[in-house]
Amino acid sequence: MKFGHFDDSRKEYVINTPRTPYPWINYLGNQGFFSLISNTAGGYSFYMDARLRRITRYRYNNVPLDMGGRYFYINDNGTVWNPGWSPVKTELDEYECRHGMGYTIIKGKKNGLKAEVTFFVPQNYDGEVQQVVLTNEGTEAKSFSIFSIAEWCLWDAQDDCTNFQRNFSTGRVEIEGSTIYHVTEYRDRRNHYAFYTVNDEIDGYDTDRDAFLGSIYNGWDNPETVKADKPSNSFADGWSPVASHYKKVTLAPGESKTLIYILGYAENPQDKKFAAEKPANLLTREAWVLNKEKAYAMIDKYNTPEKVAAGLEELKTTWNNLLSIFKVDTPDDKVNRMVNIWNQYQCMVTFNLSRSASYFESGIGRGMGFRDSNQDILGFVHQIPERARERLIDIASTQLSDGGCYHQYQPLTKKGNADIGGDFSDDPLWMILSVAAYIKETGDWGILDANVPFDDDPDGKHTMLEHLDVSFYHIVNNLGPHGLPLAMRADWNDCINLSCFSDTPGESFQTYTNPKFKAEGGYSKIAESVFVAALFTYTGPAYVGILEHLGKADEAAKAQAEIDKMKKNTMESAFDGDWFLRAYDANGEKMGSKECEEGKIFIEPQGFAVMSEIGKDVGADIKTLNSIDKYLNCEYGLVLNNPAFTKYYIQYGEISTYPGGYKENAGIFTHNNAWIICAEAYAGRGEKAFEYYSKIAPAFTEETSDIHKTEPYVYGQMIGGKDAKNFGQGKNSWLTGTAAWNMVAISQYILGVKPEFDGLRVDPSIPAAWDGFTATRQFRGDTYEITIKNPDHVNKGVKSLTVDGVAVDGCIVPVAGDGKSHKVEVVLG
Ligand code: GLC
Ligand code: GLC
Repeated sequence: MKFGHFDDSRKEYVINTPRTPYPWINYLGNQGFFSLISNTAGGYSFYMDARLRRITRYRYNNVPLDMGGRYFYINDNGTVWNPGWSPVKTELDEYECRHGMGYTIIKGKKNGLKAEVTFFVPQNYDGEVQQVVLTNEGTEAKSFSIFSIAEWCLWDAQDDCTNFQRNFSTGRVEIEGSTIYHVTEYRDRRNHYAFYTVNDEIDGYDTDRDAFLGSIYNGWDNPETVKADKPSNSFADGWSPVASHYKKVTLAPGESKTLIYILGYAENPQDKKFAAEKPANLLTREAWVLNKEKAYAMIDKYNTPEKVAAGLEELKTTWNNLLSIFKVDTPDDKVNRMVNIWNQYQCMVTFNLSRSASYFESGIGRGMGFRDSNQDILGFVHQIPERARERLIDIASTQLSDGGCYHQYQPLTKKGNADIGGDFSDDPLWMILSVAAYIKETGDWGILDANVPFDDDPDGKHTMLEHLDVSFYHIVNNLGPHGLPLAMRADWNDCINLSCFSDTPGESFQTYTNPKFKAEGGYSKIAESVFVAALFTYTGPAYVGILEHLGKADEAAKAQAEIDKMKKNTMESAFDGDWFLRAYDANGEKMGSKECEEGKIFIEPQGFAVMSEIGKDVGADIKTLNSIDKYLNCEYGLVLNNPAFTKYYIQYGEISTYPGGYKENAGIFTHNNAWIICAEAYAGRGEKAFEYYSKIAPAFTEETSDIHKTEPYVYGQMIGGKDAKNFGQGKNSWLTGTAAWNMVAISQYILGVKPEFDGLRVDPSIPAAWDGFTATRQFRGDTYEITIKNPDHVNKGVKSLTVDGVAVDGCIVPVAGDGKSHKVEVVLG
């Protein structure tokens, strides 16, 4: 069942009922100010850090689920309704929500009155603009009123939802004309404030939540002031400050009125915190006055419909430009809309927000992940390479000089997070992959010479290349009894914790280490990860390529020897006959083997092992891919492991704590489905690659939205697996490495347009039925207009490749470097 449709020409998803199976959200903001907004206008805003600078309040895990946000209430002669249906939930005559690239338009109509609200955060602006257009579509004049509401968060979202003994007594506001200022803690130790304004005279206001709701027993669905059509002009003092404007409107038939609301955030320098004088119309309880210069300037920037239109246009142009770097036209509309619009859009959002704030991530739990952010770069780097470079340097600066890494860092301080610590065995490898991806995209070899410190030597002079060296050798220097990488606290799978042996509730599987292993240096010296072995052999060649380019032939040969040795060790000790093992546990027992009772086969190592061609000479690659198809493939994607664990395996850590079919215990983890899609394409099996791609790509789940439940325009981290009662139900949408990896899978492996150090590889692996496709790729200053022809209806194989009519050997288009447009024609066969 569908709950809307794609409008590709406008790059929007159009939702036609407010009763979606889960809140379907969008993100506003690209630089510092961010908002989450659902299809009923629920959500919240923050500046830079979703925990430390939360601007509006949102209650996670609330009942009903999506309550609180920025709402408009209309009281039309006793009928109270919201343009986005919620929270009052009066049935609307018409409803529509359009989520676009950085903006959302919500339209509601009731009794001949139409309200269309456009929400967006303009480029380089620290505020959310909400333009409300009210139109009387009836035949008679209409008088009604409109209330706005935003509930302030007391800045630190964690403290805000825990420290009530203090927080119920700290709220402070100022009111000046139509602008309500939130200034809690401003006088003392903060230099930032927020405001909510409207570009018109108002007929009343409220700033105290209880006064607005009229009773502590009322919810957002039943505010007394709105029902009575009478604001109480309350002034918050302690208790919970809110901002609500009240405005009476009369419209002749056919007449429209536009109101522009702005929810903004500003910071003042310490010596300019206070204004010298108190304006005559200022309402305050304080002896001091907030310096509002910045707010005045921000309000002035978007106080007319013309200025709003220009801001929106600028945002759209920005996105059109970003999305013109890579564009395709394939025989499949769903592929086109994923590649050209939504997958790239999601990559930007995950790059910006890492795993901090979504409807599944509360914004208070996690900083930026070392492994997550490195992987995010893989899908994002072609869009704004300068920001990717900056991010790479930030991440690398949290690395330790022995190659180990802090697992997370805080975006505000850019410092490694000591609470989580390090010793995640896969972390360093993702950095080799992301730096290589950056160089392949840009040709900027200079990044290797950039001065990048180590966390334990902040003043030392170190280069990015040194970071790659220590990353590579961190693996080589930490091998176990079979010559495979030690698993440490976890590898990519945060829930395989082989040094944990936890039997006490509340211990974090990621940070708790059994004292037994603490004594031997923090983790078992027996437990080994086959996944890290395969990631090492997949990633290693990029490091070798870098060394070769730099003329370091000896070092390249030395590194290559380590890769070859790892392949040999893997084949000797970790090939189980038809697939690769997952690990050796701390008892030296096999994990992910035919010999195991449960969890006989795992997805994670397989794709990278196939793409590293481990055991290809004896057919290990095809056997492995066939086993995945046989044991892991199901209707909605590939499950992570099979059979699911039904008991608690203390030696494996968190994984078996999940009911079968969810999360890391046999859920469909879409992130590593991508690795198999890549591997199938790599092996030339375009049909299988496309089958797996289309099982999880959001646009393909649109028809089954009633089962899938989460947004049909973005990936979620996980879909309930075949062992789950809710088989096929998506969870954890938006912030997941799935976005980047599936962008890689479809663009670089299936469609086969892949940046390499020395040019642009074009080597598709597609369904045989396709006649071909076209693609436009801006690459290192040139534009390549690529046409793929598939006259023999094969899956893979470049028969000929020409650039501007001149034949090229192989399938790598050399860099022209002339800033011009070039025609690339590829014939498969
Ligand atoms: C989550 C984490 C990611 C991890 C994955 C598997 O998505 O963000 O870092 O690799 O789970 O456990
Ligand atoms: C839990 C989740 C996993 C996540 C980890 C770190 O283990 O299952 O997906 O990566 O927490 O927050």
